[in-house]
Amino acid sequence: MSKKRMLSGITTTGQMTLGNYIGAMRNFVSLQDEFEMFVFVANLHGITAPIEKEILRKNIKNMVTLYFACGMDPEKSTVFIQSEVLEHTQLAWILTCNTTIGELQRMTQFKDKSTKVKSDNGTEFIPTGLLTYPVLMAADILLYDPEFVPVGKDQKQHIELARNIAERMNNKFGEMFTIPGEYTPKIGSKIMDLQDPTKKMSKSATNKKGFIALLDDINEVKNKIKSAVTDSENIIKYDPETKPGVSNLLTIYSALKNISIEETEKFFEGKDYGFLKEEVSIVVVELLEKIQTRFNELSKTDDVDNWLEQGAKKAQQIARKKLTKVQNLTGLNYKRK
Ligand code: TYM
Repeated sequence: MSKKRMLSGITTTGQMTLGNYIGAMRNFVSLQDEFEMFVFVANLHGITAPIEKEILRKNIKNMVTLYFACGMDPEKSTVFIQSEVLEHTQLAWILTCNTTIGELQRMTQFKDKSTKVKSDNGTEFIPTGLLTYPVLMAADILLYDPEFVPVGKDQKQHIELARNIAERMNNKFGEMFTIPGEYTPKIGSKIMDLQDPTKKMSKSATNKKGFIALLDDINEVKNKIKSAVTDSENIIKYDPETKPGVSNLLTIYSALKNISIEETEKFFEGKDYGFLKEEVSIVVVELLEKIQTRFNELSKTDDVDNWLEQGAKKAQQIARKKLTKVQNLTGLNYKRK
């Protein structure tokens, strides 16, 4: 029996964070034995908010290398850069014409990000791409007919939109898309900011102490964990409502140790916050050192470029077929039904 397909991506608006790793990346890696995985670096999504070209270049380079340094296996999975498969933008346009402005304005990420662009840049210049990017994301997904899309909690609304668009297109023009489900991890689907644990850890946060990037300097990482915001109780308990900072550290520990929250609570019972931070620091540093060593090795070879070329070719074949089907069914290709 052929394997079921999964597809996902990470944007290049910044560096890959521990949140991206726990909520998404490590699941791509662990799912690649059981599923046919397609993962891409979403560089077209990386320009939805203003970004300097040198920073974008560096973000893309680091992100592609990190995919493999984190454990993506080019023999098992198809890894590629979004902009190298032109069908993504082609399909996105067709889907844009079948999506309403109201649907896009309701996306919570649009509301958050447009407010952030305004306050960061002091400008009213809100790029249209910030509004329409969930349609590009729907195109990214629907081109490949995945059964599931592994993502963190914050992307659920976008997958829901992709499902709605797929159903609408199937009903209007005839069966063309598989309706995708989402796959979120039980533990760590929303890692929080270390300085403001009521907010999601984000690679584009202004306060760099709030997030851990996988390529951060190790001493800096230790300091970030040491200065993570907790509370004044000094009681280690998992309760995201009243103890968001402590609960976030417990979640990180539990996810990286692959043990349940209950087991984690038991391990830390009666201990103080100093001990908790020390132990979290040990598991995070151990992970980052492993990834950074592999990253440095890969950076010295052409392997990544070769794997990406091979990935783009394979992705393109599938994407081309699907786009042709959509063009035929929607009447764009006047010669075929
Ligand atoms: P992005 O780049 O914001 O995030 C990439 C993945 O990481 C997850 N994630 C988190 N998980 C746990 N805790 C966090 N603090 C955290 N922050 C981010 C996200 O849920 C996501 O799974 N638009 C997407 C990228 C994308 C995509 C796609 C994803 C483009 N096309 C098609 C799936 C399918 C994005 O901005 O993700």
